[in-house]
Amino acid sequence: MKQTIAVVSGGTRGIGLGIAESLLARGASVAITYKDNDAAAKSAKDRLEHLIGKEQQVLLLKGDAGDSDVVAEQHQEVNKELGPVSVLVNCAGIMFKRSFEEISISDWDDTIRINLSSAFYWSSQVIPGMKAGGYGRIMNISSVAARGVGVLGPHYAASKAGLLGLTRFAARDLGKFGITVNAIAPAFIEDAGIFVEWSEEQKAALKDKVLVPEIGNVADVVRAFEYLLDSPFVTGVTLDVNGGVYMI
Ligand SMILES: NC(=O)c1ccc[n+]([C@@H]2O[C@H](COP(=O)([O-])OP(=O)(O)OC[C@H]3O[C@@H](n4cnc5c(N)ncnc54)[C@H](OP(=O)(O)O)[C@@H]3O)[C@@H](O)[C@H]2O)c1
Repeated sequence: MKQTIAVVSGGTRGIGLGIAESLLARGASVAITYKDNDAAAKSAKDRLEHLIGKEQQVLLLKGDAGDSDVVAEQHQEVNKELGPVSVLVNCAGIMFKRSFEEISISDWDDTIRINLSSAFYWSSQVIPGMKAGGYGRIMNISSVAARGVGVLGPHYAASKAGLLGLTRFAARDLGKFGITVNAIAPAFIEDAGIFVEWSEEQKAALKDKVLVPEIGNVADVVRAFEYLLDSPFVTGVTLDVNGGVYMI
């Protein structure tokens, strides 16, 4: 993937960091966005350092992916520093639990803005360049919550289900330009997001929910990402990386 420029939104921790690692190992240059956790961004940079080859770069970009102006500025910077983007991974997301009664308007708006609108903002920025180059890969990190109901609440399920509609529509319109658009629907990834802080006892309870002996980890999602990256004939699909829990 030498000369390939990729963007991973929300790439300084968890799933996004695993994907950034994979892209670097394949020779790409990667722009990684994050919201405001500078300590996590620094430790991500340290972890990625050994993968950065001679002609590769890592660009860390701080700012809210749920703000269209921020995304436009970040895209300009990526273009200037690295070049035109041909791989986009929309991974930035927030996860918190609320019942229908508890959820506030700002909980709702923030979740839709960060988990769903950010993918539209980033896609809108990079699609013209992908079309011009005749190649593109867009991957939207959805969730099992988009397949059934999930455990976090209506705000989260709606944001992640919205990503699947966006994925299918974009896939239909962009295929003829050599651009594939797919989604990945993980669940219970023990080394990412809220699960990092869970006790072994809490994680054991999750094992009872999945159809296989163990819950997932970032490497499982990275494998799905790599499959979609390498698959020009697969578009508009959602890959379930959730131990079969999407069927329950
Ligand atoms: N973990 C799971 O089991 C699981 C399951 C299903 C779906 N997912 C989805 O997978 C994606 C990644 O989840 P994860 O578990 O890897 O999360 P994570 O470990 O919590 O990492 C989240 C990343 O997103 C960034 N981020 C958060 N809000 C942002 C914003 N407004 N603008 C820009 N970046 C922002 C964070 O930056 P800061 O560090 O600066 O906040 C961080 O880099 C999310 O979309 C999540 O919904 C995860």
